[in-house]
Amino acid sequence: MLHDGNKVIEEQRQGEATMVEPVGTGKRKLLLESYGCQMNFSDSEIVASIMGEAGFSTTREAEEADVVLLNTCAIRDNAEQRVRNRLKYFKALKDRRPELVVGVLGCMAERLRDKLLEEEKLVDLVVGPDAYRDLPNLIEKVDGGQKAVNVLLSREETYAEISPVRLDTNGISAFISIMRGCDNMCSFCVVPFTRGRERSRDPQSIAREAKELFDKGYREVTLLGQNVDSYKWNMTSKGEVKDPQKPTVNFAQLLELVAKVNPDLRVRFSTSHPKDMTDDVLHTMAKYENICKYIHLPVQSGSSDVLKRMNRGYTRDWYKNRIEAINRIMPGCAISTDIIAGFCGETEEDHELTLSLMKEVRYGMAYMFKYSERPRTLAERKYEDDVPEEVKGRRLKEIINLQMECSAERTKAMVGKVHRVLIEGPSKKSEADLCGRNSENTMVVFPKGDYRSGQYVDVMVTDCTSVTLLGEVVAS
Ligand code: 5AD
Ligand code: SF4
Repeated sequence: MLHDGNKVIEEQRQGEATMVEPVGTGKRKLLLESYGCQMNFSDSEIVASIMGEAGFSTTREAEEADVVLLNTCAIRDNAEQRVRNRLKYFKALKDRRPELVVGVLGCMAERLRDKLLEEEKLVDLVVGPDAYRDLPNLIEKVDGGQKAVNVLLSREETYAEISPVRLDTNGISAFISIMRGCDNMCSFCVVPFTRGRERSRDPQSIAREAKELFDKGYREVTLLGQNVDSYKWNMTSKGEVKDPQKPTVNFAQLLELVAKVNPDLRVRFSTSHPKDMTDDVLHTMAKYENICKYIHLPVQSGSSDVLKRMNRGYTRDWYKNRIEAINRIMPGCAISTDIIAGFCGETEEDHELTLSLMKEVRYGMAYMFKYSERPRTLAERKYEDDVPEEVKGRRLKEIINLQMECSAERTKAMVGKVHRVLIEGPSKKSEADLCGRNSENTMVVFPKGDYRSGQYVDVMVTDCTSVTLLGEVVAS
């Protein structure tokens, strides 16, 4: 699964909306808001491209919008509630301006289509993650006075040849979607239902997109997929070759292909799955300096019993073996994770096992959540959501407190060393400073001198806050 950010965060942080900066010259105005994970933000860039071709330019102002599209997230209940509140706001706007078109895209589309269109009459348009090419037609239908829906999921759609319009960009870092959907069926997760079956995108189109980004001045790409380690081109899900005339490509090979685009292009990826992450991938990471030494490896729980009920496909020992492999093959590589507190049947001992695993691994960063039951999932059908709310809350708090300690400790250990930093832009806090990340994805802030975004600099780190490094450039 996918995320953004570089710090200890709580549940609430997820599901924040981003409104995009104005782009394009089209006549009709589109307000596009994205909720949830990086994949959704990346999808919004595809939507902006399709809508741009159809004569739209984006705006940040609801008042001047002709069409409002919310790219929604369904991963936890609170993400859905935020979208619902936002839709009520737009409904009020629509009562004043009936010609305003309001649409729901993304993960909430399939499940809520009837409810949103009919019962609550909140929206005119509902479009699922595999149907964005159909948007211009559907909007035409709405313009003609009808409601419009397309929530069909596809086994093929990867939007491979659509050139995403980069939204809210610093001009340095960009996302490239390498696959869609997920076949894993973790019992708590709604994604396989909202985004459909897993399919991989043509590796040549991925490399081409990376090269185009580099030529435009971008210096970092993040390859996105729900489970990047199961990326397979020209192979069936069982690993059989589809077309013997063509090469097969796995994730390690794809990483290499993208790393070779240019040594000055940093390559990141998200998300890895502990059951599928091979030593091959780790060796490829170690071989190329421009593949960043950072792995997001969601554990979810430290208890093998809970992992079994979660249908994660690995045990605590297997996970620890993967951590050992990372530390052996790439000493110093940063590791982050996702943790769910209070999954069905989680006992106090299970929770203690999660805390003890965290102490052993000492993650640099973690996304931590209370379990939230989702409709249609295996857990909803099979297990009782039986951990009381206050127990979930207390366990989550303990997990967060421990993680804050680990994060601060990790940051501190980076002080006193020189770090290669890719400059992303001005520091948020001070005009006189620039900021960028080291390979391990920790933010570094330093006096700006004559340096610019997109440059690599070596920074001697002399101090830190809990999640940020502070220092001075020693060489570029
Ligand atoms: N409840 C709580 N957290 C969840 N996640 C996914 N589904 C749920 C759920 N039903 C978390 C997992 C996943 C991350 C993106 O969101 O930790 O890795
Ligand atoms: Fe990630 Fe599992 Fe959900 Fe797939 S089913 S998106 S691997 S949490």
